[in-house]
Amino acid sequence: CGIVGYVGDKESAPILVSGLKRLEYRGYDSAGVAVLNQRKLNVVRATGKLRNLENRVVADQPPGNIGIGHTRWATHGRPSDENAHPHTYKDVAVVHNGIIENHLSLKEQLRSRGHVFSSETDSEVFAHLISEELERGLELPDAVRAAIAQVKGTYALAVLTASDPSRIVCTKDASPMVLGLGQGQNFLASDVPALLEHTRDFVYMEEGDLAVITAAAVDIFNRQGQKVNRPTRRIDWTPMMAEKGGHKHFMHKEIWEQPRAVADTLRGRMLLSEGDVHFEGWNLSAEKVRSLTKITILACGTSWHSGVAGKHMIESLARLPVEVELASEFRYRDPIVDGTHLAIAISQSGETADTLAAFKEAKARGATAMAICNVIGSAMTREADFSVLTNAGPEIGVASTKAFTTQLVALFLLAVKLGRMRGTLSVPAAQEHLTQLTKVPKMIEDVLKCEPAVTRVSREYMDSQDFLFLGRGPMHPVALEGALKLKEISYIHAEGYAGGEMKHGPIALIDEKMPVVVIAPKQPHVAYEKIIGNIEEVRARGGKVIAIIDEDDEHVATLADQVIRIPAACALLAPVVATIPLQLLAYHVADLRGNDVDQPRNLAKSVTVE
Ligand code: G6P
Repeated sequence: CGIVGYVGDKESAPILVSGLKRLEYRGYDSAGVAVLNQRKLNVVRATGKLRNLENRVVADQPPGNIGIGHTRWATHGRPSDENAHPHTYKDVAVVHNGIIENHLSLKEQLRSRGHVFSSETDSEVFAHLISEELERGLELPDAVRAAIAQVKGTYALAVLTASDPSRIVCTKDASPMVLGLGQGQNFLASDVPALLEHTRDFVYMEEGDLAVITAAAVDIFNRQGQKVNRPTRRIDWTPMMAEKGGHKHFMHKEIWEQPRAVADTLRGRMLLSEGDVHFEGWNLSAEKVRSLTKITILACGTSWHSGVAGKHMIESLARLPVEVELASEFRYRDPIVDGTHLAIAISQSGETADTLAAFKEAKARGATAMAICNVIGSAMTREADFSVLTNAGPEIGVASTKAFTTQLVALFLLAVKLGRMRGTLSVPAAQEHLTQLTKVPKMIEDVLKCEPAVTRVSREYMDSQDFLFLGRGPMHPVALEGALKLKEISYIHAEGYAGGEMKHGPIALIDEKMPVVVIAPKQPHVAYEKIIGNIEEVRARGGKVIAIIDEDDEHVATLADQVIRIPAACALLAPVVATIPLQLLAYHVADLRGNDVDQPRNLAKSVTVE
């Protein structure tokens, strides 16, 4: 989502819309602005492309020198005019990025006090809470603080009220917010590009900061309410650089966003003390889950790879057979599906034509339909009986990165949930698995530190013609994904294989020109001893071995030509961590070869034809 705010001497609505346009590349499904004119709040909102909002603003010309705007990427509530921000209650308007975890209980409390909600969003809660605090007599900044204190979750929030018409109050925790400084005018935004045409001087708000913005000044207070000075930074980025947050490509930005993206997938869903998982809107009864005889996963491309990893998770934790089907194949045979099956479509976009068609087919044959998807309101979430959103945020690079790792953790949550419901996981066992899961965002942060080592490897092998990727057990889908990433963006031929299959064919290809990436964390599930056998076989034929190994593994280090060390995760979660160096390898090889990393030739982000 994107946020923009303006206060100054100019008409605010056109400034807000042009700022929102600069954030359009991040994906959106609806947008809106709220501007204040002589204590009158004017709100204009529109579903769909930003042009729809622009047309309405041009037609209505809402007057006012102070306003806030928003582009939405839905997380709670489908895309619609009502669910678009700004949300208003009485004379308060808010725009919000982030997730309010306790919104259901807050809504219930507010309803019991007579509040009526006009949207399905979690964000609207802020307008109600702040309005209550203002009615209690608090000043706007204190009212915002008091509302925040009741909320559990993440936020970048900007607030406007007709009862205090000369200032905007904004605050943030875990979601980004910057302030733009001008002469006789000031700005706020979730991202720098929204404001670059007006100012180059930015203040980055820190966690828990609250800012009061008027045309003349910007005052910032920390979490304790003390006034603080945050440094002003001059940003010389071009608009294109700014969109990428200073990264050279969107793909690189998205690789580095993974600790945050994965944390957002987990947020509010792990019930550690109960050893359980909470999915909002979950509607499968215990009886239904116990009566399931099979899960059929339907997906394409990278999402299919996450399905293969999901099979390991679900079979191991919930003891339910899982078939992972290439969606494009599924429909053209006579698949065995009945009412005791659960069909899970996995898709970043929720629009891939093959996956959608297969999903409909499974549903028509009686299966219960679940979508694991990054885009709420997409065709697959509309088709599904129930959806788990991955909350990765918009993914722009064609080669999928953060969508994949968030799918993996969503599948792990699902495996734990099914395991609990089917009685195959005890409370302590589920607690242990969830505890492992809580460590994953930090592990991703740590593994990203391998980038310099990966860059060195990339330089060495950037001119290779072929690559082989090997992994066993849960590392098999990682090998498949590593090979797919490399071929998608570097155009080097690459194959992913289960380690045990090497002797049945690929071994014939190995010579001194063939780099072999072996994913070999020290795990019994991964058949560590056997994968060492693969390494020996490659070496014996002069092949070059690049090994992805645990931090403390000294043995493989003596056998491989290059090693990349990763933090040790449990076997079922190791794919999340082990994939990251492979994403970086593909990225750097492609970049060194001068390729268009974000838009590789012949590929599309979302394939809506069969
Ligand atoms: C395209 C993209 C891939 C993606 C696949 C499935 O081929 O280039 O990156 O994995 O579609 O997309 P989905 O949106 O269904 O996950």
